[in-house]
Amino acid sequence: MLAMNKIKILGITVITIVATIIVTSCKDKRSTGWEYAPNMYEHIAYDPDQKNDNFKDGKTAQLPPAGTTPLGFVRFDYPNTKDGYEKAGLEVKTTLPQTQANYADGKILFEHFCSPCHGVNGQGDGLVVAHGYPAPPSYSKGQSSRGGAMKDLTDGKIYHTITYGVNAMGSYASQLEPKERWKVIMYVHHLQTL
Ligand code: HEC
Repeated sequence: MLAMNKIKILGITVITIVATIIVTSCKDKRSTGWEYAPNMYEHIAYDPDQKNDNFKDGKTAQLPPAGTTPLGFVRFDYPNTKDGYEKAGLEVKTTLPQTQANYADGKILFEHFCSPCHGVNGQGDGLVVAHGYPAPPSYSKGQSSRGGAMKDLTDGKIYHTITYGVNAMGSYASQLEPKERWKVIMYVHHLQTL
């Protein structure tokens, strides 16, 4: 009886050891093991950096065809130069409905993004100016460093300035999407009359 038990225990031990060796002896040490829903790991869509025979250059990541515009992208084909600024000043005009709601949004955006330098009334007396930052000219009484009175700045010139910045003023293109820029411009036009 005792001998039978010993053999049983030995048998179970051997089976356990062999099973453990089989289960843990994966050759690929980076293997994730047993994959649940493997098509989540090995999906059928191409990865951007994967080889792809469907294209002549064999790459998956392709440049968009020349002259195309991504969905929802607003073009602004005026370079960051004095000429680009002047040209935008003549050609680019707002298409934003001049509503009270857009004006109110513009005021809030202006107070968040622009007033620290330009001041809440656009007089170039913002908080950081009080601490020594170069003062921007007043929107209503100042002169633009690019010529002309600040009160005469057009839609396109202000849009160009917000998009690229000018001298001590940085670009706000990554903070304000085109529609928001037009809202701010609506409010700047109001400040030009103060
Ligand atoms: C960090 C401070 C700062 C902030 C913030 C700032 N500006 Fe300016 N801005 C300036 C300075 C300084 C100038 C004058 C630059 C120059 O002409 O040398 C200026 C100039 C301008 C001009 C005149 C450009 C021209 O053609 O002469 C406009 C318009 C303008 N800013 C609009 C804005 C708007 C709109 C915002 C908010 C989205 C804004 N700025 C945020 C500092 C700032």
